[in-house]
Amino acid sequence: MNPEILIIACSPRKGGNSDMAASEGAGAASHMGFNPEVLYLRDYHILPCLGCHKCASSPGFTCVLREKDQCQFLLNMIDQARIVCLSSPIYFYHLPAHFKALIDRGQSFYERWMKTGPKEQSGKTLCLLVAGRKKGDALFKGSLLTLKYFLDPFSLDIADLCLLGIDEKGDLEKDLPARSRISEFVRHELGSIQER
Ligand SMILES: Cc1cc2nc3c(=O)[nH]c(=O)nc-3n(C[C@H](O)[C@H](O)[C@H](O)COP(=O)(O)O)c2cc1C
Repeated sequence: MNPEILIIACSPRKGGNSDMAASEGAGAASHMGFNPEVLYLRDYHILPCLGCHKCASSPGFTCVLREKDQCQFLLNMIDQARIVCLSSPIYFYHLPAHFKALIDRGQSFYERWMKTGPKEQSGKTLCLLVAGRKKGDALFKGSLLTLKYFLDPFSLDIADLCLLGIDEKGDLEKDLPARSRISEFVRHELGSIQER
C-alpha cells in the first residue's frame, strides 16, 4: 500500500494560493507513489480553546469541547499521520485565526506529551507558507516557531518552504517557478523519508 500523506489547506479563501500550494504538493506526492488526502480547514467547525486546563487532569487528556466541534477529529488525524503537509497564508505576520484556533486546541496533546513523553515513531510535516509582501525577513518567523511547538507533541519535525510575493487569488497558479519550487521541495522531503 502507498504511504499516506495528510494535507491540510488552512486558508479561509477557497481556491486561493495556499489551496494551490496544497494541490501542487498533492500532485508531487502522488507522482512519487504517495497517497495524499487533502482537507480544507475552512470546512471544519473549530471552537477556540477556553484555557480551562481541564484536559491536563482528565483521563485521556480529554478536551471539554470535544463533542462540540470537529477539532478532535482533525487533531487525531494529525496524531495518526506520519507525513503531514500544512499550507497556509500569512495574516498579519502569523497564521489565520481558524488555523491558530486548531493550534491552540492542540493543548490537550501538549498535556499528553508532557505527562507520557514523546511517541515512539516520529514523522515529518512539510509547511508551505505564502505571503503577499515581496520582502520581509520576519514575515514567517512567528508562524514557524508556533508550528514547531504545535507539532512537537505529535513527534512531527518540520521542514518549510516560504513563498513571498504571492498575493492575489491566482498569483500562485500563474507563477510557474514558484509552483516548481513547491514540487521540488515536496519531492526532496518525501525522497529523504523514503530513503530512511
Ligand atoms: C487579513 C489578511 C492579512 C494579511 N497579512 C499579511 C501579512 O502580514 N503579510 C503579507 O505578506 N501578506 C499578508 N496578507 C496577504 C496574504 O498572505 C496573501 O494574499 C496570500 O496569498 C493569501 O493566501 P490564500 O489565497 O491562500 O488565502 C494578508 C491577507 C489578509 C486577507
